Amino acid sequence: MIKKTFRLFFIVLLVFGAVQYVFSFSTGIAGFSGMNGGNSCNNCHHSGVTPEVSISGSQVVLPGDTQIYTLIISGGQETAGGLNVAVTDGSLLSLSGETQLINGEIAHTTPKSANQDGDVVFSYAWTAPVITGTVTMYGAGNSVNGNGSNSGDAAGLTALSIVVMELNERLYLPLIQRD
Ligand code: HEC
Repeated sequence: MIKKTFRLFFIVLLVFGAVQYVFSFSTGIAGFSGMNGGNSCNNCHHSGVTPEVSISGSQVVLPGDTQIYTLIISGGQETAGGLNVAVTDGSLLSLSGETQLINGEIAHTTPKSANQDGDVVFSYAWTAPVITGTVTMYGAGNSVNGNGSNSGDAAGLTALSIVVMELNERLYLPLIQRD
């Protein structure tokens, strides 16, 4: 009897641990940047005010070049936020403890507090592929209320097109655009 109770206790502990692990999203999540069929944080987060989300950074880069990009979450709950950024090519890099790489994607580590303007700002870097072409950087910014649950939050999506081209190609850019 004691043995059975102990075993049950152990199983409950194990299941609880697994559930905790699976649902520990406040520490960063990948696969919800909007790149995969529009799946976003809003698959789970709900009933908040939708923020404006944008990514700023170079939109014309050299092959193999590394540039810093910034994702800004403005409006929404103006309390805290998290992010997920994914790219169709090249590689993303984390620049501080505020972000981490999960499956090659940028995610937050803990919810980041909004600044005095109510914005949540994350910076990270991206290295362009060595082959020329166009890359899309997808970003989701989740504006959360800090209640430790998925309610009272809402995410916005954005996508930035980046052209990877050689310098000599850029010389002809105005000529091409003229006609
Ligand atoms: C599969 C469901 C699910 C998805 C998708 C999801 N989350 Fe969450 N998230 C949760 C749950 C459940 C919680 C509350 C429990 C916890 O903190 O782990 C949470 C909590 C959070 C919190 C803390 C919220 C607060 O108000 O304190 C942040 C920040 C967060 N998630 C960011 C994100 C971001 C950014 C995305 C999208 C890139 C995302 N989540 C996608 C389920 C999800």
